Amino acid sequence: METKEIRKQKVVITYGTFDMFHFGHERLLKRCKEQGDILIVGVATDEYNVQKGKKAVQSFEDRLKYVESLPYVTRAIPETGINPQWYEDYEKYGVDVIIMGDDKVGELDYLKKDMNLVYLPRTKEVSSTEIREAI
Ligand code: CTP
Repeated sequence: METKEIRKQKVVITYGTFDMFHFGHERLLKRCKEQGDILIVGVATDEYNVQKGKKAVQSFEDRLKYVESLPYVTRAIPETGINPQWYEDYEKYGVDVIIMGDDKVGELDYLKKDMNLVYLPRTKEVSSTEIREAI
């Protein structure tokens, strides 16, 4: 009898603020989805942004709702910080890979001893900060 392969679905997770969703965000998330079957996106809460010294124009609820509506996003969840959340998510969702834009190269390398973390190149010439400043 022929044996059919049973393949576990590959789970990808990424995190960010996603304020005024732009084509750099879209390109990043689409490339994340190409790396797996399930894409979970952690959206930074307003409180977490305050901790990071960041002020989004859109509320957390609006940013979360928008990201969740995207057809290539399986689920959007609140992100309240790296430790302990990323470690807990990694176990809870059976994450295969965390993907982040390469603006985090160096800053997040310490996580690589515990997790599979990969960086993707950012899209040039667009950022929420630039859009905020232009407005
Ligand atoms: N990203 C990207 N290319 C861009 C902008 C963002 O690939 N031009 C990626 C980031 O590297 C990150 C994700 O999109 O993995 C969410 O980034 P976020 O910080 O929300 O977007 P920025 O536009 O960089 O926002 P800010 O300027 O407020 O830092």
